[in-house]
Amino acid sequence: MKNILVTGGMGFIGSNFIRFILDLNQDFNIINVDKLTYAGNPENLKEFTDKFSNCYRFYKNDICDFDSIDKIVKKENIEYIINFAAESHVDRSINNSTTFCNTNFMGTQSLLNAAKINGIRKFLQISTDEVYGSLDFEDPPFTEQTPLAPNSPYSASKASADLLVNAYYKTFGLPVNITRCSNNYGLYQFPEKFIPLMITNALNNKKLPVYGKGINIRDWIYVEDHCKAILEVLLNGRIGETYNIGGDSEIANIDLVKIILKHLNKPESLITFVKDRPGHDLRYAINHDKITRELNWKPNIKFENGLEITIQWYKHNENWLNNVISKEYLKYYEHQYKNR
Ligand SMILES: NC(=O)c1ccc[n+]([C@@H]2O[C@H](COP(=O)([O-])OP(=O)(O)OC[C@H]3O[C@@H](n4cnc5c(N)ncnc54)[C@H](O)[C@@H]3O)[C@@H](O)[C@H]2O)c1
Repeated sequence: MKNILVTGGMGFIGSNFIRFILDLNQDFNIINVDKLTYAGNPENLKEFTDKFSNCYRFYKNDICDFDSIDKIVKKENIEYIINFAAESHVDRSINNSTTFCNTNFMGTQSLLNAAKINGIRKFLQISTDEVYGSLDFEDPPFTEQTPLAPNSPYSASKASADLLVNAYYKTFGLPVNITRCSNNYGLYQFPEKFIPLMITNALNNKKLPVYGKGINIRDWIYVEDHCKAILEVLLNGRIGETYNIGGDSEIANIDLVKIILKHLNKPESLITFVKDRPGHDLRYAINHDKITRELNWKPNIKFENGLEITIQWYKHNENWLNNVISKEYLKYYEHQYKNR
């Protein structure tokens, strides 16, 4: 059995990863540590927890709390750590960056220390392409050599963590990898993020807020493709290396919103342009040649298919959605857009 500590496993990508890896029915024992912030939702793994009770355990803990992390690593004989836990929403980091610096930087430091002291086999940091900053329309995609140039407090906190992970590799010889992925979409994503926000607002005939003129371009990857890449890097990535992960699906926000409206048979008059996000990155695009060449990974799910699966899921999982929405997201968003 491989004992893997997954942090942030009640969030969007973490819960998809746990589902994916345990469904493989291989020798994986998953220990999920999550603080259960507004973004951590135990319902994401609800029916699944019983199914895999022999190889899955959950601890409600903050990754910044070194003592409890150290205890869990010892008690569970952890060999691998995958750090998904983060404050992940750019807009929130613009309003208040404190928890971003705490969790994304200090939390990573606490995990690195636990990894170092306990001699684990690999520490995998889940980072983001946003650490590279912004591209112009005609620029080539980010490679692993692109200098770090983060623009938001969120991406700056993630870039700082990446630097620390590399420092632990260089200074202490800690076996690490970093993955930097483009924008994920798929099931169980908190509906403050772009695609589920647009889907849920359209389903409820509410306005679809689009920043600026909607010309910003993102590269989208279906979350399961990301999960497959993470497992490849965990098991076969060269120690000390960073791997870019991308979906080969660049699209402008406004075009994406129009596609979603078309899928749902809703009018474009629902679109409302709102004041642009400060420091809004114009374009992200990823060159994933390295992981394709070294680990034989490439994205499999075509954007049209992944989007269709995602839209159908949100349509048919009203209970999940209503539970999430009833918490605090509506309050937060209504306040946000009123003030722009
Ligand atoms: N969503 C994307 O498009 C995307 C793209 C590239 C990289 N990433 C990275 O992937 C990771 C996961 O992103 P996501 O979209 O699933 O985020 P998410 O916000 O959906 O989930 C984050 C999870 O971390 C938990 N968490 C937050 N602070 C914690 C703390 N101090 N201790 C323990 N748990 C804590 C939350 O409760 C939540 O379950 C993040 O590191 C993010 O930077 C995300």
